[in-house]
Amino acid sequence: MPVPTLRDRRIVIIGGSSGIGYAVAECAVAEGARVVIGSSSADNVGAAVQRLGQAASGEAVDVQDEASVAAFFAAIGAFDHLVYTAGDWGPGMAPSPLAQMDIAAASKGLKVRFWGALLAIKHAQPHIAADGSITLTDGLLAHRPRKGLPLATAFGGAVEHLVAGLAMDLAPIRVNTVCPGLVRTERIAQWPAELVSQMTGRLPLARPADPAEVAQAYLYLMRAGYTTGQVIIVDGGGMLA
Ligand SMILES: NC(=O)c1ccc[n+]([C@@H]2O[C@H](COP(=O)([O-])OP(=O)(O)OC[C@H]3O[C@@H](n4cnc5c(N)ncnc54)[C@H](OP(=O)(O)O)[C@@H]3O)[C@@H](O)[C@H]2O)c1
Repeated sequence: MPVPTLRDRRIVIIGGSSGIGYAVAECAVAEGARVVIGSSSADNVGAAVQRLGQAASGEAVDVQDEASVAAFFAAIGAFDHLVYTAGDWGPGMAPSPLAQMDIAAASKGLKVRFWGALLAIKHAQPHIAADGSITLTDGLLAHRPRKGLPLATAFGGAVEHLVAGLAMDLAPIRVNTVCPGLVRTERIAQWPAELVSQMTGRLPLARPADPAEVAQAYLYLMRAGYTTGQVIIVDGGGMLA
């Protein structure tokens, strides 16, 4: 059997204009893949495509709008792997006491991370190669809950169980998720250093991940032809601390 590689594979990355998704795009291009990135801002997509170079293209897509998602995948056509890293930082993601939670607003927090992922998969699936894959994203709060953040834990759990269900439903297309701890993306780089140290100081690897370190898990899951329904935790040892 030939050594698995992403060379000449076509990879679609929703959320690829920044953070973890951009790092996946950059690492995949370095391995010889062609990438198509999508996110809701055409300006963000254009800037990222320019930085990624000739092996990259992209279009704006809003995963909260089914017509936008359907048009995005119809225009792309056949491809090998879907990576989904789109996430908003709105309701349910900031610590708050349950007694003060606006449930209607909080329920919108699922729109990008959960329903957006499902919409993307619904419209991507007919175009994905039979030996291709889908890789979603959740977060360590799914396994390490914190006071004031019950919904972040619930969102992560929902994604992990969606992956298990879809791995059976969509086989032979493989479906997995990456579960990162804190990652020094553009957004996290703006946080106060004390907060970052407080969150990472007890870890065996006492720092946030570099986005490229987390991207390696996505690259593995795309190449790993016998792995499906799995959660790959990339947390600097956070599950042990
Ligand atoms: N960074 C961390 O420490 C960390 C840790 C654990 C888990 N995670 C999870 O990993 C995911 C990515 O995190 P990140 O740090 O890479 O975030 P990020 O840099 O904010 O990237 C999020 C991406 O999603 C896109 N996006 C947002 N809303 C969208 C929409 N409606 N339609 C299409 N695209 C949309 C954004 O682009 P536009 O603004 O152009 O739409 C951007 O490309 C998130 O779900 C986050 O919860 C992150």
